[in-house]
Amino acid sequence: MIVAGVMSGTSADGINVALVRFANVKRARSSKTSAPRFTLLAHEEFPFPARVRRLILETMNAELARVADLARLNFLLGELYAEAVAKTASKHRVKLDLVGCHGQTLYHQGTPTPFLGRKLAVTWQTGEAAIIASRLGVPVVSDFRPADMAAGGKGAPLVPFLDYLLYRGQHVGRIAQNIGGIANLTAIPARATPRQIIAFDSGPGNMVIDAVVEQIFGKSYDRDGKIAATGNARSDLIEQLLKAPFFRQRPPRTAGREEFGHEYVGQFLQVCRNAPNPDIVATATALTARSIADAIQRFVLRKQSNYREMIVSGGGAKNRTLMAMLRRELEPLQIQLRFSDDFGIPAEAKEAVAFALLAHETWQRRPSNIPAATGAKRPAILGKISYA
Ligand SMILES: Nc1ncnc2c1ncn2[C@@H]1O[C@H](COP(=O)(O)OP(=O)(O)O)[C@@H](O)[C@H]1O
Ligand SMILES: [Mg+2]
Repeated sequence: MIVAGVMSGTSADGINVALVRFANVKRARSSKTSAPRFTLLAHEEFPFPARVRRLILETMNAELARVADLARLNFLLGELYAEAVAKTASKHRVKLDLVGCHGQTLYHQGTPTPFLGRKLAVTWQTGEAAIIASRLGVPVVSDFRPADMAAGGKGAPLVPFLDYLLYRGQHVGRIAQNIGGIANLTAIPARATPRQIIAFDSGPGNMVIDAVVEQIFGKSYDRDGKIAATGNARSDLIEQLLKAPFFRQRPPRTAGREEFGHEYVGQFLQVCRNAPNPDIVATATALTARSIADAIQRFVLRKQSNYREMIVSGGGAKNRTLMAMLRRELEPLQIQLRFSDDFGIPAEAKEAVAFALLAHETWQRRPSNIPAATGAKRPAILGKISYA
């Protein structure tokens, strides 16, 4: 069957659509050995119109959002996702069987926190799946995170299910590092079982870089890392920033705009207030590279040291200055930097492929959370299905 995976991440930069063909293999539901086999057919990216992006960012940061606007945004995103999938399918002349749509996260708080006398972990992805199903005429799996949270997990990360299939090695441990708005990693020891996977958010990916570049230079991101390349990263400031409680928190841990959004950027700029503008961008870029390496040293290499490769995906892979900094951080750890493109998946397509895969598993009524990654007490079949 052919499944379209649809992702729009916390950067709110746009929509990624991946068309994935799954081999028709009969697998017992209880079977642990046979993995789904798939091929990526095509990938397309659709930037959000500036007004839509602004609305999404405002809604995520809002203390008070109007309920009517939230309802409208839900249906508007449903239309935009459907259009993106329709364009991709017709451009590549593909007839779809199923869609897996992550939706746009408006709020995610994976750790239970007191609320009206109960402790609740909550999450909210928007983008009406009924609209997508109706426009495209195929079923849609959406809203993947709540089932994992109902099983006691943090609802994230969910991409390790794909990472495990793609990168589990016989002889070397590999770290899959996605750098979207947030940076998250999946560490897979050689010959690992799913229980041995370590996955968590290391901290900011592009989110702080984007915000700083926007505030200082009026651009939405630092294309190819050109601005950062003209500045010097201030390591004294980075050491200070890494003292924040988030970076010491043990995994499983998750982050989003709640941790590294508007408020954090205000604090970051305060810490950097005496530095020249290009240095501030270089420092934001180095904070991402340094916090990734730091997280690996603290939480990954202590348990097992045979990691030799890091495989990068996400928009951050396009930031050359960030990649150069990361390469330098990994050298003393004897970890080589590679890209998901080498494994047949373009860096910017990986998360969309992951949601095609998760939708496929749900359609087959198979669980696809990795309890070791999310902290869930049990495997769970993820998502809800909307029929056309
Ligand atoms: N050519 C590029 N140079 C530098 N950064 C880039 C480039 N292309 C994309 N990015 C960064 O990647 C981000 C989008 O990455 P993405 O993986 O889509 O994140 P998310 O999953 O949060 O939407 C952009 O906001 C930008 O910061
Ligand atoms: Mg994106």
